[in-house]
Amino acid sequence: MELNRRTVIAGAAAAGIAATTLGTGTAQAASGGKKPVKELFGKLADGTKVYRWSLENGGTRLKVLNWGGVVQGLEIPDRRGHYANVSLGFDNIEDYVAKTPYFGALIGRYGNRIAKGQFTLDGKTYQLSVNDGVNSLHGGTQGFDKHIWDVEPFTKGSDVGLVLHYTSIDGEMGYPGTLKAKVTYTLTKHGDWRIDYEATTDKATVVNLTSHVYWNLAGEGSGTIEDHELSIAAGRYTPTDTGLIPTGELAKVAGTPFDFRKTKTVGRDIRDGHVQQVQAKGYDHNWVLDKGITAKPEHVATLRDPRSGRTLKIATDQPGLQFYSGNFLDGTLTGTGGKTYRQGDALCLETQHFPDSPNHANFPSTVLRPGQTYRTTTVHTFGC
Ligand code: BGC
Repeated sequence: MELNRRTVIAGAAAAGIAATTLGTGTAQAASGGKKPVKELFGKLADGTKVYRWSLENGGTRLKVLNWGGVVQGLEIPDRRGHYANVSLGFDNIEDYVAKTPYFGALIGRYGNRIAKGQFTLDGKTYQLSVNDGVNSLHGGTQGFDKHIWDVEPFTKGSDVGLVLHYTSIDGEMGYPGTLKAKVTYTLTKHGDWRIDYEATTDKATVVNLTSHVYWNLAGEGSGTIEDHELSIAAGRYTPTDTGLIPTGELAKVAGTPFDFRKTKTVGRDIRDGHVQQVQAKGYDHNWVLDKGITAKPEHVATLRDPRSGRTLKIATDQPGLQFYSGNFLDGTLTGTGGKTYRQGDALCLETQHFPDSPNHANFPSTVLRPGQTYRTTTVHTFGC
């Protein structure tokens, strides 16, 4: 079933669902988005203020921190108009700083892993910050997710959104070149959440930006996502070694638990005992999207919670999708709604270039040179 948001709202209104059930966003949705609202969320240890921006449009409510561009909450209605926050997070900045596994964050300068934190570009070898055993993960110890971004709100036509800027200086986390990153979060009148990434550099470098939302379409803290249905338009994936670094092979998904070309539940084959699953404790792999790199975002994955009817469709121009089944959530983190998060209580679908691309000549290049502009877009479409 694929009803769009306007149908749901109209249906809810026809069914006489009270305004309080749907919240104030419903009335706003018809006439365009609400102006983003800023409030104090907390303070860093050095006194720096962390703000939270609240946006609403087309029935989607988005809460974003200026720390790491973190999506602190994302609320969408189910088929009866009941809202739930479908993104894992914390209700305070201290937990984000101390222990977040990248909940909702913007990831850079290089999303995913780089083997031994090393790569060679134009004959020079760079040593990056290493934070995942011997490897570098999500930009190193102080990736883009752990910095304050400049945030400017906007309303443009029927869109509302935020423009986030972060400048990563030459040598930060070991990466060459001062990289100016600009990320635009837009909520459209249909309630879609669009992310436009841009970056420029003053020296040749590598870039791979992504967003690390942990999805649970039944609501964060509501239990496992193993019953969520998932499809991924990819006939191949990149198998990894025990450190989750791609071996370089583009293996066929056919006949393996990695085949999501036809919709199946996340849990159906997750215990198959495939060596790739055993070493990752579930799914934690990059799918090689059949469409490849495209000029415009194209649909690549659909996630659906059969209980609530909520759906998420992802469109991207990127060549890869990391599907991570929340394997390292272990019941030690207490989330926004006061519940602990256990293994498989959420999943991530990170649109990206392949992990460790700088060390694989057969993977699409992630090199950015002075004068070029890195540009990529991912669109999240919600329905029920
Ligand atoms: C990676 C996981 C990692 C997680 C950190 C994901 O993007 O694929 O291996 O544990 O991020 O939260």
